[in-house]
Amino acid sequence: MPHTSSRTAGFGESVIRRMTRVALEYGAINLSQGFPDFDPPEALTKALAETASRGPHQYAVTWGAANFRAALAEKQSRFMGIPVDPDSNIAVTCGSTEAMMAAMMSVVNPGDAVVVFSPFYENYGADAILSGAEPVYVPLEPPDFSFDRKVLRSAFERRPKALILCNPSNPTGKVFTREELEYIAALAEEFDTWVITDEVYEHIVYAPAEHVYFASLPGMAERTINCSSLSKTYSITGWRLGYTIAPGEVTQVIRKVHDFLTVGAAAPLQEAAVQALQFPPSYYTRLLESYTQKRRLFLGALDDAGLSYTRPQGAYYVLVDIGAFDGRDDTRFCEWLAREVGVAAVPGSSFFREPVTNLIRFHFAKKEETLIAAGERLKDLSGIWREKGYR
Ligand SMILES: Cc1ncc(COP(=O)(O)O)c(C=O)c1O
Repeated sequence: MPHTSSRTAGFGESVIRRMTRVALEYGAINLSQGFPDFDPPEALTKALAETASRGPHQYAVTWGAANFRAALAEKQSRFMGIPVDPDSNIAVTCGSTEAMMAAMMSVVNPGDAVVVFSPFYENYGADAILSGAEPVYVPLEPPDFSFDRKVLRSAFERRPKALILCNPSNPTGKVFTREELEYIAALAEEFDTWVITDEVYEHIVYAPAEHVYFASLPGMAERTINCSSLSKTYSITGWRLGYTIAPGEVTQVIRKVHDFLTVGAAAPLQEAAVQALQFPPSYYTRLLESYTQKRRLFLGALDDAGLSYTRPQGAYYVLVDIGAFDGRDDTRFCEWLAREVGVAAVPGSSFFREPVTNLIRFHFAKKEETLIAAGERLKDLSGIWREKGYR
C-alpha cells in the first residue's frame, strides 16, 4: 500500500472519543465528551423544521449567508463591545473547529512558532501539525492554572507568529483575568503577534469571574482572530456553525482557506440559526443560570464523594485530582472508573504537554437527573477503590 502522509503520522486516536467508546462498552454515564444530553431551545428546532420545507437547500455564500452574518454581527458587537462589520469582519465556518484551523492556515507559515498554553484543547495540536506550526508550550500551573509571566515572555522572545488563547478554557475552566489578558496583549503588541482566540464558552462564565473578549482590549481588535461558534451557546454542537471575527484583510484570507476546506457551513442550518442569534438578553441569563445550577449540583456531588478539584470559573468542565487513588496512570484509572463505578471521564494527561497524570476531566453539560445519577455512583468511589482497586 502507498504510504500515508508523514504529517498525519503523529495523530493518535482522540482520547475523548475513545473514552466515549469505553463508556458505551461498560454502560457508564458519559461525562467525558463535552456535549449536552438535552435539547436545544424549541424555537430553534421549530425554525429548523420550517426551513426544511421553505429552504434554502443550496450553497449559501461561501463566507456565510447574509442574514446570518448580519444577525451575528449585531449580537457579537453588542457582547464584545467593538464594531463588527458583517461584510468585512466575518467568515462563517463549520464550527469553531474549522474556524481555528482556517485561522492557523491563514497566518502561520511552516516552521513558525505558535504559543499554546498547556493544558490545551486537543485540536490545537492537530491545528499546529496541519499548518506546520511549531508549538511553544507555556504551562498553566495547577491548581489555579495561572501562568508564569517570565515563562510567557521567554516564549514570545522566540518571535511566535501567533498565540492561541482558549478563554474560558477547556479543560481547566479557567477564565483569564483582565490583568492576565492585558499582559498577553502587551507582549502581542511588542512582538507583533496574532492572537487566535477560542471563545466558544463566552456565555458560560460564573460570577464573580467575567468574560473579557481579547479583541475588546485597546488596540487588540487589529491583531485578534476571534473564533467561536453556536455549538455551546445554543446546545447545537451537531449543527456545526462557527465563525471568525477578524480585521478585514485577514478575513479575506480566512474566507479563501475556508472556501477550499469546506465551501461553506450548511445553508438550512444557518437560516434556522438566525433565530438564535436574535434571542433577547434574557436567553443568555437563563443559559448561565442553568449552567450555574449544574455546576452547583455536580461540584456538590464531588464534595460528597470526597474528591478534590479546581473550581471552574467558566465552561462546563472540572479537573479532579485522583492522587489519592492512582496519581500515576490517569488512563488506567479512567478505564477502571468507567468499568467499576460506571462514570466516564477523560484522562487529564491528554490535555497536558507536561507529564501530569493525577487529573481527570469530567463535564457537566448534562440534564440534572444525569448529574444526580453520576453523583450517586461517585459517592461509592472510595469504597469501591478500597474493596476492588485495580484487578
Ligand atoms: C475549547 C473548545 N473549542 C472548540 C470546540 C469545538 O467547537 P465546535 O463545535 O464549534 O467546533 C470545543 C468542543 O468541545 C471546545 O471545548
